[in-house]
Amino acid sequence: MAVERTLTILKPDCVRKKLIGTVTAQIQEAGFEIKAMKLTRLTEDTAGGFYAVHKERPFFGELVEFMSSGACVPMILEKENAIADFRELIGATNPEEAAEGTIRAKFADSIGENIIHGSDSVENGRLEAAYFFPESDVVANEA
Ligand code: RTP
Ligand code: MG
Repeated sequence: MAVERTLTILKPDCVRKKLIGTVTAQIQEAGFEIKAMKLTRLTEDTAGGFYAVHKERPFFGELVEFMSSGACVPMILEKENAIADFRELIGATNPEEAAEGTIRAKFADSIGENIIHGSDSVENGRLEAAYFFPESDVVANEA
């Protein structure tokens, strides 16, 4: 299996609930290596640009408002089969439908406030990583 990168964001509800450490530990225990991370607060423009694919959806306004409502933690993660394995780790978009033990099942309150983002393809992972981090912020592979 190929080594892939995915871009995650610990969303503002994750930060407000003081779950940065807990969720990051679950990510690391699942074998993901953190290659870049930061604490930041998105503007409405930055949040809207990130989720631009959903611009025409009825929930877009709420999504942008929520994602810019407080600090969040974008990270670049690396692992074999990272895209699919990370989507499995976080669970379904709606926490009521997320499998037991997944991050969203354990910690999310609703489909709108669902704790964490994960890229949905290798190509989107690459684009999303570049949206938040210049290549110089990405830690080189350890020997
Ligand atoms: P994400 O991009 O954040 O990892 O979430 P996802 O792939 O599981 O879901 P996606 O379809 O990409 O939707 C992006 C985010 O929009 C919010 N949403 N709200 N109210 C609704 O029906 C609804 N549908 C989607 C969620 O916060 C979702 O994570
Ligand atoms: Mg998505």
